[in-house]
Amino acid sequence: MTIKINIAETRTKSSEEPPFLEIQGRKKLSGEVKISGAKNSALAIMAASLLCQDDCRLRNIPSLVDINRMSQLLQALGVKVHRQGETLDINAINISSSQAPYEIVSRMRASFDVIGPLLTRLGVARVPLPGGCAIGARPVDLYLQGLQAMGASVQIESGGIVYACVPSKSGRLQGAEIYLNKPSVGATKTIMTAATLAEGETKIENAAQEPEIVDLANFCCQMGAKISGAGTNTIVISGVDRLQSVDYSIIPDRIEAGTFLVAGAITHSDISLYPVIPEHLMPVIAKLNSMGCRIITEGSDRLRIMPGNLKAVDIETLPYPGFPTDMQAPFMALLSISEGNSIISETIFENRFRHVAELNRMGADIRAKGNHALIRGVPKLAGAPVMATDLRASAALVVAGLAAEGTTIVQGLHHLDRGYDNIESKLQKLGASLQRINPVQAKN
Ligand code: UD1
Repeated sequence: MTIKINIAETRTKSSEEPPFLEIQGRKKLSGEVKISGAKNSALAIMAASLLCQDDCRLRNIPSLVDINRMSQLLQALGVKVHRQGETLDINAINISSSQAPYEIVSRMRASFDVIGPLLTRLGVARVPLPGGCAIGARPVDLYLQGLQAMGASVQIESGGIVYACVPSKSGRLQGAEIYLNKPSVGATKTIMTAATLAEGETKIENAAQEPEIVDLANFCCQMGAKISGAGTNTIVISGVDRLQSVDYSIIPDRIEAGTFLVAGAITHSDISLYPVIPEHLMPVIAKLNSMGCRIITEGSDRLRIMPGNLKAVDIETLPYPGFPTDMQAPFMALLSISEGNSIISETIFENRFRHVAELNRMGADIRAKGNHALIRGVPKLAGAPVMATDLRASAALVVAGLAAEGTTIVQGLHHLDRGYDNIESKLQKLGASLQRINPVQAKN
């Protein structure tokens, strides 16, 4: 089988002067945008394909740098990965290594998700600590405590490598009752996947309830895992001996969809999004409604946003079904030109306001202190050169650029490419005026 991975990141690596987006703002958008498969589901499910001793076919895989990195990680473990369009075939019958390479894990926190599947499948896993990142420290203590409760021995070796192994005679993890101090998405995924092949029953209390957890559980159940309660705060997993072949389609990306809703709202446009699962966007739709936006559901999987007045609203980010932290930055851009004063409180990550300074460069009036930001709505934003500091901050700057008067230059596109599938061509199709400029090509 040919292993052929399209490495989109080469487009940012090849030149010393990285590409940037040039946006001419204040264009009305119209038409329909196709929402891609959910990045955070796809990454978790790719890692969970390590559980399967058969072929896995995954559909609706978005085209993202993070997906390419996860493919590379699986290949480094000896797994066969073949991509064709939106379909990814993964065959993890033979896993030749239990050690995840530092170069990949250090660049993408989600690659730490392989620890649970590797450990439960092989009885041993060596995965480097993912380390801090632009939005805060992001420890993995809850992941490791969960694995230890299931009987794993866990040590941090020199160089910050987590070495986990199953010392028990049977070579299998043992079911356990685990209470999470915080409903961590990553810890819930790790414990749930590790428990699928453990001996006995595992109960996760105060589990994360995000739709991506439900998608991961559905994927595992289709392979023959026994999981109940995913989507509630108590998940029960009865370990099985082996998982079988699966053909599974990833859910639509609620954060990408939310970002397009904000793009519609900030440009006072009438656009439709398809496919979506409206229920997953409830907290986002509720905020947009209370700001004065008009959103209607058309059929079971289409949303339409129509022009409305934009009024200030307060936001507190919370675990699902609360308002998602991943939508905080795009909403800050939207609130910056809404009438009145808004307060955003970020309760999930400790350092997720780095877009404030960039939005202020565009004429916004935002003051951040600790985990609160006060946004005083201004009549309009002005185009400026800005730098994306993380994935969702990059989306905030793009939507701000769509609304701003004049030209906005967004740099730091490697963040955007991690999580948004062809965002510029999707926006172009809706009528936005923006283009990716590669300085090297432009010079030649
Ligand atoms: C996932 C998502 C990310 C989203 C976040 C919250 C992926 C790839 N990423 O991140 O887009 O913003 O959920 O919805 O799915 N924590 C600990 N100890 C731990 C684990 C987490 O203290 O062992 C803390 C984190 O530092 C953070 C909070 O818990 O402050 C939430 O983290 P978590 O829910 O685990 O988020 P991620 O899985 O990293």
